[in-house]
Amino acid sequence: MMDKIKNNTLAIQLINLKKSFDANKYVLKGINLEIPKGSLTAIIGFSGTGKSVLLKHMLGLYQPTSGQVKILGTDLSTLNDNELTKFRCRYGVLFQSSALFDDMTVLENVCFPLEEHRRELSKEEVVAIAEKKLMMVGLDPEHYSKLPSQISGGMQKRTGLARALALDPEILIYDEPTTGLDPILTEMIDNLILETHKLGGGTTSIMVSHDLSAAFRIADHIVMLDAGNVLLSGTADDFFKSDIELVKRFVNKGIKH
Ligand SMILES: Nc1ncnc2c1ncn2[C@@H]1O[C@H](COP(=O)(O)OP(=O)(O)O)[C@@H](O)[C@H]1O
Ligand SMILES: [Mg+2]
Repeated sequence: MMDKIKNNTLAIQLINLKKSFDANKYVLKGINLEIPKGSLTAIIGFSGTGKSVLLKHMLGLYQPTSGQVKILGTDLSTLNDNELTKFRCRYGVLFQSSALFDDMTVLENVCFPLEEHRRELSKEEVVAIAEKKLMMVGLDPEHYSKLPSQISGGMQKRTGLARALALDPEILIYDEPTTGLDPILTEMIDNLILETHKLGGGTTSIMVSHDLSAAFRIADHIVMLDAGNVLLSGTADDFFKSDIELVKRFVNKGIKH
């Protein structure tokens, strides 16, 4: 009974998750992780430690070699391809490259998931929802008929975020959303992620970031991976107080710049 109550409050539960792409090298070495519903979690760690592979398991894009991935109470391994596609509508995803369709306008990019997955909606309803999401991320109507190549990098990110929000996702996943951006744009996007999280009213947000100061500033739960293991999971305070040598190194490095 206790377990059941507890599991209802978890957005994501990873149980002894292991992944190897070739026989003897494990990229994920037995990850146990619980992400509560409504939290904003940052996953940090040196490059090549398995952060993106971990996210792809959460999205059902990779299958575990062993262990379990439970999302909103559902073990993804119990879903067939159709069910998984449907289930993925409950996520919004923003990758480092905003991954917009080059030949579609800003508005068409945001309409796209609605046209794919909400077939019951009329064209007018789709456009109304898309415009609402674009307003939410601070994009003005004068840009809606432009192509991605005609707007700035920051606006492309906003468009990508509006598209990720189109289906009112319960879980929002960001993989290095600000990598390669200048500091001003980085801060703007980080703030936008935080605002979007608060506006979502219960949305669970998960952000992979190499940017420690952003993670400490906006996340309420931080998970550090190292070489396929969870090194530390906790609050910013837990990280500052940690005696783990690698955590200390990472924290100090992150604070210098
Ligand atoms: N599809 C794949 N096939 C084989 N190896 C992979 C694949 N995806 C990732 N890897 C390996 O897994 C490790 C972790 O990668 P990744 O999760 O992308 O790291 P990061 O923490 O930088 O996001 C790397 O060594 C990478 O080469
Ligand atoms: Mg990565």
